[in-house]
Amino acid sequence: MDGAGELLKHETDTRRAPRHVAIIMDGNGRWATQRGRPRLFGHHAGAKRVREVVEACPDLGVKYLTIFAFSTENWKRTQVEVAGLMSLFRRYIAKEARALFEKGVRVRFIGDRVQLDAKLIALMDELEQLTAGNDGVNLTIALNYGGRDEVARATKRLAEDVAAGKLDPADVDQETLPKYLDTYVLPDPDLVIRTSGEARISNFLLWQSAYAEYEFIDTLWPDFTHEEFARLVAGFGARERRFGSVPA
Ligand code: IPE
Ligand code: IPE
Ligand code: MG
Repeated sequence: MDGAGELLKHETDTRRAPRHVAIIMDGNGRWATQRGRPRLFGHHAGAKRVREVVEACPDLGVKYLTIFAFSTENWKRTQVEVAGLMSLFRRYIAKEARALFEKGVRVRFIGDRVQLDAKLIALMDELEQLTAGNDGVNLTIALNYGGRDEVARATKRLAEDVAAGKLDPADVDQETLPKYLDTYVLPDPDLVIRTSGEARISNFLLWQSAYAEYEFIDTLWPDFTHEEFARLVAGFGARERRFGSVPA
């Protein structure tokens, strides 16, 4: 059977799949409010959607999935919401760890851990270690993550290396800074999806998304399904990426 014939057997042409998809999971609060429930009810419903999306990745050809769970700006919310989210993250990690491991998912966290509570940091470390040998989907969870904060932390460490004589300022170019970013082992995102109708990036992966394709969709995150995910991934395959050049 020729290549095209073989392809018909598959739902998606994974040759044009985005290798790295990043998702701004937004709209949990509005989803709950629409139902007359507290915002945390929406966060719990949102957390439940993650598994389906992770599990859809292998068939869609998505090797890296990065999800925005909590931003460096989300501390501005009420103490009740912040505490509820932190508790949800602890429970989520404890509950999902085994299933993620068994599915071959490799989990990483990005963001500044310093402000997180010790119990949560321990759970994050444990999950990273547990799944470190897995070679399936690379799931990166952005928790207390902000793009500007990440660049500032990276710059500080770069400056420390200069001060220590390990790095010559004359050698600093656009390949240097990414080595200091939290994402240093990840490829740049090819496709960034934001749910809930907002067309902004809210400080997510600023450096890394310079040439990403964007999809802003109206669906609230707790209503996001693997079907919609597959549709967006297929849409990516039809786009022409130019990276500044003129197509031949
Ligand atoms: C996204 O949903 C989850 C987090 C930011 C933690 P929101 O909580 O921002 O939901 P909306 O945008 O208020 O609907
Ligand atoms: C972005 O959503 C952060 C996460 C999804 C974790 P926000 O709801 O915090 O963003 P803004 O406030 O609408 O820009
Ligand atoms: Mg929001």
